[in-house]
Amino acid sequence: MIIVRTKTELEPVVARWRAAGETIAFVPTMGNLHAGHLHLVDTARAQSDRVVVSIFVNPTQFAPGEDLAAYPRTPEQDIDHLRSRRADLLYLPEASDVYPESDQPATFVEVPGLSDQLCGQFRPGHFRGVATVVCKLLNRVRPDIALFGEKDFQQLAIIRQMVRDLDIPVRILGVPTVREPNGLAMSSRNGYLTPEERERAALIYHTLTQAADAMRRGARDYSRIEGEATDALEAGGFSVDYVSIRRQQDLAAPSAADDALVILAAARLGKARLIDNLLIFLD
Ligand code: PAJ
Repeated sequence: MIIVRTKTELEPVVARWRAAGETIAFVPTMGNLHAGHLHLVDTARAQSDRVVVSIFVNPTQFAPGEDLAAYPRTPEQDIDHLRSRRADLLYLPEASDVYPESDQPATFVEVPGLSDQLCGQFRPGHFRGVATVVCKLLNRVRPDIALFGEKDFQQLAIIRQMVRDLDIPVRILGVPTVREPNGLAMSSRNGYLTPEERERAALIYHTLTQAADAMRRGARDYSRIEGEATDALEAGGFSVDYVSIRRQQDLAAPSAADDALVILAAARLGKARLIDNLLIFLD
């Protein structure tokens, strides 16, 4: 595996592969890789000739007071994982390579509407930072496909919209969420939980599963289902930011005719803010 730290080193390597007619798949990450990230890498490996992974804890997507400084950084361990999954190239830049002119670039990519709701209401500027860095990384790597986890469903929707709106020539592939044996969605932020909280955190998955089952059995009072799920999480010691049932396609509130839905939740437990979602297809 080739490891590069700058755009100047990155670009000729991917240009050579492209010129040789090889297909390139790209998996952007913030590192501290777990089985969820590695599933994206395996899917990329199965889809293309070359697999590029980036690890960059992107400062512009953290609001002041969030966990930028505390975010887990485990580069040695990540490199071992990526070697064993046969990634071809790891791009591991410093902030000065991604944002050479200043910490706050002059140009941002914004996807209003999709970004203003759900997590966007609780993390101001977060999705603007995500869209901007993903746009920059796509321009640097110029992959044929880029892979993102459904675990961050709103992020995936925003990236799909950005790619459509800006005519970025890449295919975006969403990959299902990988979970711990108890149901908890894998996340670098699970490391903030104590062992006891980690067990309790599976309640998010179980609560969403119950709500999804009720909907499959015919329950259609979505605000009541959201309220009951919120109560169940609060009773389990979570502080809930939201539980919300939306259309998969555009995250709009569903009407009676919509059958491809998603139930999303964000809740805080101990030092961690956790998110999860389940896709629901009604008959
Ligand atoms: P990060 O949280 O490191 O996640 C990188 C990718 O892994 C994202 O596409 C995310 O959805 C996916 N992922 C995380 N946990 C997963 C799980 N349990 N199952 C499946 N996929 C999972 O998301 C980011 O980084 C950043 O916002 C980034 C897109 C890299 C921009 O900075």
